[in-house]
Amino acid sequence: MSLILTAAQRADAARIAEIHMAAFSSNAMLLAQFPTTAVRDALEKCIESKAHADINDPNITVLVIRDTNTTESGESKQDHTHQACGTIIAFAKWAHPVSINDVYTESPWIWPEGTNLEVLGEWTRKTEEAQAYAVGVSPCYHLSFIGTDPSHERRGAATMLIQWGIHQSKKYNVPIYLESTLVAAPLYRKLGFVEVGKFSLNYEVPDSGITQT
Ligand SMILES: CC(C)(COP(=O)(O)OP(=O)(O)OC[C@H]1O[C@@H](n2cnc3c(N)ncnc32)[C@H](O)[C@@H]1OP(=O)(O)O)[C@@H](O)C(=O)NCCC(=O)NCCS
Repeated sequence: MSLILTAAQRADAARIAEIHMAAFSSNAMLLAQFPTTAVRDALEKCIESKAHADINDPNITVLVIRDTNTTESGESKQDHTHQACGTIIAFAKWAHPVSINDVYTESPWIWPEGTNLEVLGEWTRKTEEAQAYAVGVSPCYHLSFIGTDPSHERRGAATMLIQWGIHQSKKYNVPIYLESTLVAAPLYRKLGFVEVGKFSLNYEVPDSGITQT
């Protein structure tokens, strides 16, 4: 097996941001929230900063999948055997169960100038409502983000990242919760997740004039 699951290091933050942007490049919600190329370029830096903070946060586990057959430059390891760790091809961020009585605030996102705060705010409100509907205020493992480098999809990376959360949830006997994009829903179903609700937003996708839900 050439894929290994490890905890992310601070040095991995830039690669996590790069994969995030590549994985969500055609995600209509990202395009609506961050409507221009300039905003999205700035967003990548914001994601990197947030990844730094999350990696240091004891209430968050940021995981990465490394392909030990490739180097950081993506070349075959046979050519660079000194780079034993391999290149990162996927990441996930799991928020740990935190009781409402615990004094804890996750480090805030600092959004780039030009972010569509109206769409972002509406989306955030809907996700919070969805979580409240699904698990109430019960502390749970929550998959905040997951993404696989598009050139490494369907190799089982996301499955490994999700199985970590499933294992934690069983070990500590707490619920597990996530919101899914349409793309990822078959994967979650396959791993045993059950849909408890749906939500959507009407918005205009920039540069296309298309309205999506
Ligand atoms: C969803 C995503 C994380 C899956 O990553 P991955 O590493 O390719 O997933 P896996 O290799 O573990 O896939 C396992 C299974 O999921 C399903 N699956 C994954 N990608 C799929 C796709 N594009 N179309 C249909 N089914 C897919 C398949 O059942 C697959 O098993 P199979 O290859 O044996 O048929 C990745 O496609 C991605 O980053 N998408 C964009 C960002 C996103 O939507 N993230 C989810 C946020 S909730």
